[in-house]
Amino acid sequence: MNGESSEKTSDKEDANSPVCVGREEDIKRLQRTTVTVHGREVLVLYHDGRFYAMDCRCYHAGGPLHLGEIEDINGQPCIICPWHKYKIILATGEGLYQAVNPREPSVTPKWQSKGVKQRTHCITVDNGNVYVTLSDLADDIDSDYYAEKYKNTVHYPIKK
Ligand code: FES
Repeated sequence: MNGESSEKTSDKEDANSPVCVGREEDIKRLQRTTVTVHGREVLVLYHDGRFYAMDCRCYHAGGPLHLGEIEDINGQPCIICPWHKYKIILATGEGLYQAVNPREPSVTPKWQSKGVKQRTHCITVDNGNVYVTLSDLADDIDSDYYAEKYKNTVHYPIKK
């Protein structure tokens, strides 16, 4: 193994290591915060008794998801991007859209998934501390473009 490949392995391991992002009680109280995990801007949310983490910049055009409202759509909490109102499922990062099936008699639009568009990350709580572990970055997900573009930028403070 040469020095270059061991350095790359080390970088990859670093990117996969959990990072403490705050105290559980503080994040529960704030309900949302933005943090930097290995240079990546991540939105951490506490909603209806559950923690979520996802890339902070919207996959569509880099909108600030930390300013979005949360709505239930088909029983799933979604963040609504404040820029163009795209809807993203908190748990999976799937983008949603409404569509009418022309073969069905009803003209009522139904929610459909575009697939995973926003990268979500793993959250763990240990001994009162909240940790974020970045998801495997090997697969391309749409939000990666804006995560890279805004890498190491100072995230917006959230005041409550
Ligand atoms: Fe988020 Fe367009 S930037 S919907």
